[in-house]
Amino acid sequence: MEVTKVMISAEEIDAKLAEMGRAITEDYRGEDLLMVGILKGAFIVMADLARHVDLPVEFDFMAVSSYGAATKTSGVVRILKDLDHEIEGRDVLLVEDIVDSGLTLHYLLKNLRTRKPASLEVCALLQKEGLQKVELDIRYEGFTIPEEFVVGYGLDFAERYRNLPYIATLKPEMARET
Ligand code: IMP
Ligand code: MG
Repeated sequence: MEVTKVMISAEEIDAKLAEMGRAITEDYRGEDLLMVGILKGAFIVMADLARHVDLPVEFDFMAVSSYGAATKTSGVVRILKDLDHEIEGRDVLLVEDIVDSGLTLHYLLKNLRTRKPASLEVCALLQKEGLQKVELDIRYEGFTIPEEFVVGYGLDFAERYRNLPYIATLKPEMARET
């Protein structure tokens, strides 16, 4: 598509997910792994990462939305869909597409900790440079990217572009349109 410029190729993403999957496989061997994807953005990362995890893993999803403008997070998070099952005593690995301010993740971790999982870790494909408003411990990190709005591989701009097989920046004339 001409409206976008590739930042991270499909091949680079797959190599990184394979590496992360190997680390997860090592770390969770013999444990009770539950991967929790944060919808909608994480659906593609979750699917591709999970196929690099060689363990009897279970899956669940949460959907959240933050109030406020479309491209910025306010820190106030609304749970649109909660987990299907209890996580008490489970080894929970949250899977996120991107951590920007970190506020969404901060809220989710605080919420999930009250449910007493045996462990709670985070895996994020992307992290934006220098912007974290809150200290976060991300156990499995993919790529650190500059402070630019990106789309693809699950990430949207006004719900579009999630199906691009790579991470891309939007050409400025596109981003201005809405
Ligand atoms: P945070 O709370 O600021 O860390 O924002 C996290 C959420 O905002 C992500 O899960 C995305 O849904 C969205 N987001 C942040 N940066 C981008 C971006 O560059 N492109 C698309 N969505 C983004
Ligand atoms: Mg979004």
